Amino acid sequence: MRFYQPLAGALLIGAAQAQQGAWAQCGGQGWTGGKTCVSGYQCVYSNDWYSQCLPGTASTPTTTAAQTTTAPAQTTTATNPSATGWKWLGVDESGAEFGQGSLPGVYGKDFIFASTDVLGSLMKEGYNIFRVPFLMERMAPGGVGSAFSAAYLANYTVAINYITQNGGYAVVDPHNFGRYNGAIITDTNAFGTFFKTLATAFKSNAKVIFDTNNEYHDMDQTLVLNLNQAAINAIRAAGATSQYIFVEGNSYSGAWTWANVNDNLKALTDPQNKIIYQMHQYLDSDGSGTSDACVSSTIGVERVTSATAWLRANKKIGIIGEFAGGANSQCKTAVTGLLQHLKTNSDVWTGAMWWGGGPWWGNYIYGFEPPSGTGYTYYDSTLLQFRP
Ligand SMILES: *[C@@H]1O[C@H](CO)[C@@H](O)[C@H](O)[C@H]1NC(C)=O
Repeated sequence: MRFYQPLAGALLIGAAQAQQGAWAQCGGQGWTGGKTCVSGYQCVYSNDWYSQCLPGTASTPTTTAAQTTTAPAQTTTATNPSATGWKWLGVDESGAEFGQGSLPGVYGKDFIFASTDVLGSLMKEGYNIFRVPFLMERMAPGGVGSAFSAAYLANYTVAINYITQNGGYAVVDPHNFGRYNGAIITDTNAFGTFFKTLATAFKSNAKVIFDTNNEYHDMDQTLVLNLNQAAINAIRAAGATSQYIFVEGNSYSGAWTWANVNDNLKALTDPQNKIIYQMHQYLDSDGSGTSDACVSSTIGVERVTSATAWLRANKKIGIIGEFAGGANSQCKTAVTGLLQHLKTNSDVWTGAMWWGGGPWWGNYIYGFEPPSGTGYTYYDSTLLQFRP
């Protein structure tokens, strides 16, 4: 990946009296900027740390307008409770998790947030789910179960709210590999506390999806089960009862090894019955997603077939939360075959997300940032054939 300074001034807040622009922050604990919005937008409470300028007319009382804004999303969700069927095609949106060697790191130098302009253009194309990584060490800087950083949460929430207010689903992804400051997380109570705080911030947004953690690996298998269950319990106890929860498994949540490695995760329970098993699958020789070569033109299907059988045998549903292939014809055939398999088996597969988008990928082999990302220019039209 390559780093550069974001455009200066793009997000600068004006004088305290100035009106906030579209989608900008306009309130929240510690907020000292403007609290009113430009014409056509109004300041809507999101959580204690964040209020945002959302579309709405100033002549409408704030509370009514807020309800008007969220009502359609809730209606859509309410009429769509069944988890089966092909629902989602989307992209991972990197940035907030970058600079893992610099903690907490400096905004604009070590890490960045997804661009709402880019999210908007991808949603116009038909992508309807975005997985947005962040780092637990930045969100909860005092330890796994510690208080959140209001500033980092507020910045992160901008992209999340933009996605969900425009009809998409946003996957909130602690991109931590089951670790905090490099050490495997073993304190399931603290892990639960982390998710209680996270779920409290997003519990009123039915289009948020909680991801328990990115790619557990080299961990005790029962610990992976217990961490996932602690997250589920805490999310529900916090009152976030309508949202899907994406659980992940050991061995980097790989689909190709899932049935062997993660069979014990079938024991996970959710009182709301909205668990979706999130697996990742790359098509290079070691499955790590670090090469632009694919093993064969049929490797996409071959690598997920056992996971399809596992989901069906255990009456579970799944999603591919990361996949990609290099910009070459062998990979394109393999990727197309993978997506065809998933969609054909949509009694157990709900969708797929490409890794990855985000403003700082530069010429990364799988980069999906429009207009010129390597993966975007080569794969956009292929992926769009699999819109829900
Ligand atoms: C949040 O974003 C603002 C710019 O909008 C930036 O000045 C600030 O440093 C960011 N803080 C964090 C913790 O991301």
